[in-house]
Amino acid sequence: MSPPPLLLVLLLLCSASATASAAGKSTTTPAAAAPAITPTSSPATVPPPKTIPSPSTSTHSTLDPKQLRALQSLSIPTAKDPCAQPSPHNATLCDAESPFRHVVSLHLSNCSDDVSLSFTALKSLSTLHTLSFTDCPITPIRFPSDLALALRSFSCAHSLKRLTGVWLSHFANLTDLTVTDVPVTASGLYVVIGNMRELRSLTIANANLTGSIPKHLVENLTHVDLSGNRLKGRIPSSIAILENLESLNLSSNSLAGELPANFGDLISLKNVSLASNSLSGSIPDSISAIPGLEHLDLSSNQFNGTIPKFLTDMKHLKHLNLANNGFHGILPFNASFLKRLEVFKIRGNDNLCYNHTSLSSKLKLGIAQCDKHGLPMSPPPSKDLTSGGDDDSSDYDDGDDDGSSSKKEGHHGPNKVVLGLAIALSSIVFLIVFLILLSKRCT
Ligand SMILES: *[C@@H]1O[C@H](CO)[C@@H](O)[C@H](O)[C@H]1NC(C)=O
Ligand SMILES: *[C@@H]1O[C@H](CO)[C@@H](O)[C@H](O)[C@H]1NC(C)=O
Ligand SMILES: *[C@@H]1O[C@H](CO)[C@@H](O)[C@H](O)[C@H]1NC(C)=O
Ligand SMILES: *[C@@H]1O[C@H](CO)[C@@H](O)[C@H](O)[C@H]1NC(C)=O
Ligand SMILES: *[C@@H]1O[C@H](CO)[C@@H](O)[C@H](O)[C@H]1NC(C)=O
Ligand SMILES: *[C@@H]1O[C@H](CO)[C@@H](O)[C@H](O)[C@H]1NC(C)=O
Ligand SMILES: *[C@@H]1O[C@H](CO)[C@@H](O)[C@H](O)[C@H]1NC(C)=O
Ligand SMILES: *[C@@H]1O[C@H](CO)[C@@H](O)[C@H](O)[C@H]1NC(C)=O
Ligand SMILES: *[C@@H]1O[C@H](CO)[C@@H](O)[C@H](O)[C@H]1NC(C)=O
Ligand SMILES: *[C@@H]1O[C@H](CO)[C@@H](O)[C@H](O)[C@H]1NC(C)=O
Repeated sequence: MSPPPLLLVLLLLCSASATASAAGKSTTTPAAAAPAITPTSSPATVPPPKTIPSPSTSTHSTLDPKQLRALQSLSIPTAKDPCAQPSPHNATLCDAESPFRHVVSLHLSNCSDDVSLSFTALKSLSTLHTLSFTDCPITPIRFPSDLALALRSFSCAHSLKRLTGVWLSHFANLTDLTVTDVPVTASGLYVVIGNMRELRSLTIANANLTGSIPKHLVENLTHVDLSGNRLKGRIPSSIAILENLESLNLSSNSLAGELPANFGDLISLKNVSLASNSLSGSIPDSISAIPGLEHLDLSSNQFNGTIPKFLTDMKHLKHLNLANNGFHGILPFNASFLKRLEVFKIRGNDNLCYNHTSLSSKLKLGIAQCDKHGLPMSPPPSKDLTSGGDDDSSDYDDGDDDGSSSKKEGHHGPNKVVLGLAIALSSIVFLIVFLILLSKRCT
């Protein structure tokens, strides 16, 4: 009776090793799969934290009934008093007048298709100081002049389909105008802002705006963002009257010519971006007179000349981007200055180089090292300086950088082997026990 069990053992061992290897394959990454089970099971148990305002709490609104109807026509929820704070979606803000309160601020966002503006509704909302639209692709209509002149702040982000300069120009008392991601048709910016005597903050960005920068700008402007348009021509030297201007963003236009020499008269400037235009000439010396300059982005233009050393004396400078221009000469910065900056970009200036005694090649500035004449050494060193011998070692370095991923793969290998062995061994043990039990029954 002893030979048949032995045969059985062999047969079963064969099939056991086959199933063990199959099992090993199906559970290739047990360590990674196991913890993933808990988070995938949890989303089903997470309830949406939104609470629906219960209609039972609807109180008698103190809002002007005409305005209440106007809000309803704009699909603003009025089940709850729109003057109660915080209002649903922060859509409304009211004054404190009696017997009726009035809406002073209205924010329409994420409008559905059935919302439309009506002249009557807008006329009854002439108490508004602030009106804003976000993601409301509804059709703009002519605004009643009471409302147009009452508005101090108007904002339109990705809303109202398309606008004209003339339409916007009716908001003559605005201090804040923001239009982003809406095409604005106008023969020039002056059409839009020509009447706005009190404007402080002007943003018309990504609006396909054409024409040039007006020679006459309101002197109290503190913020100007005209980025992402199709503005042409020069930056007028009259811009220098804006002595309260804190931020100027003219990036991504088609501006050309040199910066006005008196650019530094903009003494309140903190943030400037003139990136992605066709500006040329050198950085005006007058910029050294701007005491609080934090952010200077002149990238992707055709600026030339040398990089002025006075930039290192600008105590508040944190962000300096001079990439992709035609600067030449020796970069006048040392490591302690660059360490102070949060952002520094200089690559894409082919005739610019750095002095190896003051700046390490490890900084990977993206420009060539200077030779002893102060000219760029021929191969722009993207990696280390001693090019010939270092190619091998940099390959080695790259291997180290990618080590994390290759190490991970390395971990999977041994894990699979260990797991397979464990499964095979345990199934052999199980089989032997099983066979012993079987043979006991047989006897
Ligand atoms: C409403 O505005 C307040 C303060 O401005 C803000 O804290 C809150 O998150 C806003 N709520 C919503 C739903 O936007
Ligand atoms: C906008 O509205 C749609 C449906 O009306 C909704 O699914 C979406 O979450 C809303 N988005 C925001 C940012 O409120
Ligand atoms: C708005 O400007 C007009 C002149 O354009 C002026 O007569 C009116 O008083 C101003 N209204 C407000 C509310 O400031
Ligand atoms: C921008 O203007 C050009 C020419 O005027 C026009 O072809 C293009 O469609 C406009 N783009 C948008 C988004 O309106
Ligand atoms: C600019 O602001 C000052 C003070 O804030 C004010 O006296 C002056 O009238 C303003 N100028 C214009 C043109 O609004
Ligand atoms: C200037 O830019 C920084 C980011 O670089 C930003 O945090 C800050 O609010 C901006 N300041 C102004 C006045 O625009
Ligand atoms: C200027 O505008 C662009 C695009 O709108 C934006 O990415 C950039 O951060 C702005 N820069 C400054 C300094 O405000
Ligand atoms: C710099 O650009 C200006 C304007 O395009 C040009 O007149 C000048 O010759 C250029 N200077 C150098 C050194 O390339
Ligand atoms: C770096 O340059 C700045 C400004 O030119 C200077 O004040 C500082 O002493 C220099 N630091 C070193 C370590 O050379
Ligand atoms: C680089 O800097 C060192 C020390 O500051 C100076 O002696 C040397 O002349 C500089 N090299 C060039 C090419 O300017």
